[in-house]
Amino acid sequence: MKKYTILICLLFLLTCFHIPAEAGSKYDNLPAPQWVAHAMFVAMKQAERMYADVEDSARLPRSIQKGLVSPADWTSGFFPGLLWYLYEYTGDGVWQERAAYATGLLKQERFNAFDHDIGFKMYCSYGNGLRLTGNRQYEQIIFRSAKTLTSRYSYKTGLIMSWEPNEARDWQFPVIIDNMMNLELLMEAYKLSGDTTLNYIARQHADKTMKCQYRPDMSCPHVVDYDAETGAVRKFDWNNGSDDVTNSTWARGQSWGLYGYTMMYRETGDEDYLRHAEKIAEFLLNHPGLPQDLIPYWDYTGADRSTMRDASAAALMASALLELSTYSGQGKRYFAAAEKILQTLSAPEYLAEPGTHHNFILKHATGNYLRHSELDGALSYADYYYVESLMRYIKLLNHQELF
Ligand code: GLY
Repeated sequence: MKKYTILICLLFLLTCFHIPAEAGSKYDNLPAPQWVAHAMFVAMKQAERMYADVEDSARLPRSIQKGLVSPADWTSGFFPGLLWYLYEYTGDGVWQERAAYATGLLKQERFNAFDHDIGFKMYCSYGNGLRLTGNRQYEQIIFRSAKTLTSRYSYKTGLIMSWEPNEARDWQFPVIIDNMMNLELLMEAYKLSGDTTLNYIARQHADKTMKCQYRPDMSCPHVVDYDAETGAVRKFDWNNGSDDVTNSTWARGQSWGLYGYTMMYRETGDEDYLRHAEKIAEFLLNHPGLPQDLIPYWDYTGADRSTMRDASAAALMASALLELSTYSGQGKRYFAAAEKILQTLSAPEYLAEPGTHHNFILKHATGNYLRHSELDGALSYADYYYVESLMRYIKLLNHQELF
């Protein structure tokens, strides 16, 4: 009897820890739980169908509500980036071809200085492409894009202006927390070129944001408006999350910050960024407004917050926590929290059935609650950071370097 029990347990463990052949993964021989293999399988099925629409239209997926958008949209880099991760996962040249095609659609964006989002667009697409292929043309495009981003930097404020001044909103020099993510493009271009201005600008922006955008409890508003001449803070404001600007703790914004400072520690080795990222992680993981399953509502504190979750904030948080777990004394806790988030997102409540959900991967992502935009649906960046964090999770389980 005891022998049979042991045999059954062994068979069970084998099915749990082997990625099935259907995934066709170059990680095939590496141990990973079955739910990870299934999640990647779903991601591939959905992306394959989505890619057919991208190829037909030369446009990129954003959400169910907004459909396919032009390369100028802030979200255009996420689908190409997702395709690069699938190429990394499978090692299959078909995914490489798809990723290269989708990435190529964004080439003109290297000159688009309209807002700070050039970092999202060009790093997720060309940055991943360069990492996986070493394509020298991609290097030039990344450098040119980074230079375009620096055209929005002001030596008076010590910041990159995220959006244009706006009379109706009384904004002189608006900076949003999302801008932390776009510093990755500058740091990549700095490493490629040795151009120290890129490093300087990224660090100035990160330092000032750390000092001026965070409240003592480690929450931050979405927007801070600065005096364009003196660089002094004029006011805290919102465009996403709750409109109670004294307390608003927009979920995705908190995750952008966590990811941004973790990344800046990786790129600079500056311990101040590590401490800051750890404090954000502690604040979020201990927040009474964070549900037990660790998938945040669209705002941690705002009125009505408990009406809708944001899977994009969760996926981003998981990815950031996985990286932070490799630098921090609290690494085990951060890894466990990220694992829990990924397990929740990989269950049917959040993970789409192949062939449904307009070929997006994650359900229950929230674009902008108070503006009634892209509610409780799909977002290409939720999918991108979900697949990125699954890749990070597989690598860490197998003691591989993340980068
Ligand atoms: N970067 C825009 C957003 O997170 O909604």
